[in-house]
Amino acid sequence: MKYALEIGLAYGASSMALLEASSNLKLISCDPFQKDDYNDSGLKKIQAANLQERHTHLNSFSDRALPKLLEEKASFDLIFIDGDHKFSGAFVDFHYAAQMTKVGGIVVFHDLWMRALILIRSYIKKNRKDFVEIKVGSSNMCAFQRVDKDSRDGMAFNEFYNRQGYLKYHINRLSWERKTVLGKSIFKLKTIIKKT
Ligand SMILES: C[S@@+](CC[C@H](N)C(=O)[O-])C[C@H]1O[C@@H](n2cnc3c(N)ncnc32)[C@H](O)[C@@H]1O
Repeated sequence: MKYALEIGLAYGASSMALLEASSNLKLISCDPFQKDDYNDSGLKKIQAANLQERHTHLNSFSDRALPKLLEEKASFDLIFIDGDHKFSGAFVDFHYAAQMTKVGGIVVFHDLWMRALILIRSYIKKNRKDFVEIKVGSSNMCAFQRVDKDSRDGMAFNEFYNRQGYLKYHINRLSWERKTVLGKSIFKLKTIIKKT
């Protein structure tokens, strides 16, 4: 049996994809907003496909749930980080995920258009020799395979700041917020481009 953890269940698209991809997989998902924000739609989808026996949902913030799983000595072949997309949240998710990923296992991140995720990717590449980046078929995702134990010394730190995706992120953010004339105009333009 293989074990996977997904942070951020939402409508259940990726959970379903994981459960359907392998009948040999057990999945734990973690999302505190499943009921209130998503009307349990992810859980209902999994139930409708009769996949609930291989699935456990934790109705909890990941920064509470992951330390508990670690304490229980859980370990995973695959961890998909797609929950809190702020730098602090996704970084804490990785901090715990890294310790629960089996050697040979994989950590995947979604939404690589976001600056927070770009910088976390850069942090891992520059600071975590125990993780090696592997190719994925989407520019909006990245994945790292755990290849070793974490053997950093207590003062280990390599600079990882970069400017990659800086403009793209801030333009997207302006358009997402639609608070300024510029933001509203970019949003309109994007809508027109999408329609054509
Ligand atoms: C982009 S959606 C995930 C999409 C999902 N993976 C899919 O493919 O359908 C982000 C999800 O993360 C959840 N989320 C936000 N903050 C979280 C946190 N601190 N812990 C766990 N989940 C969180 C949100 O409720 C939301 O469902």
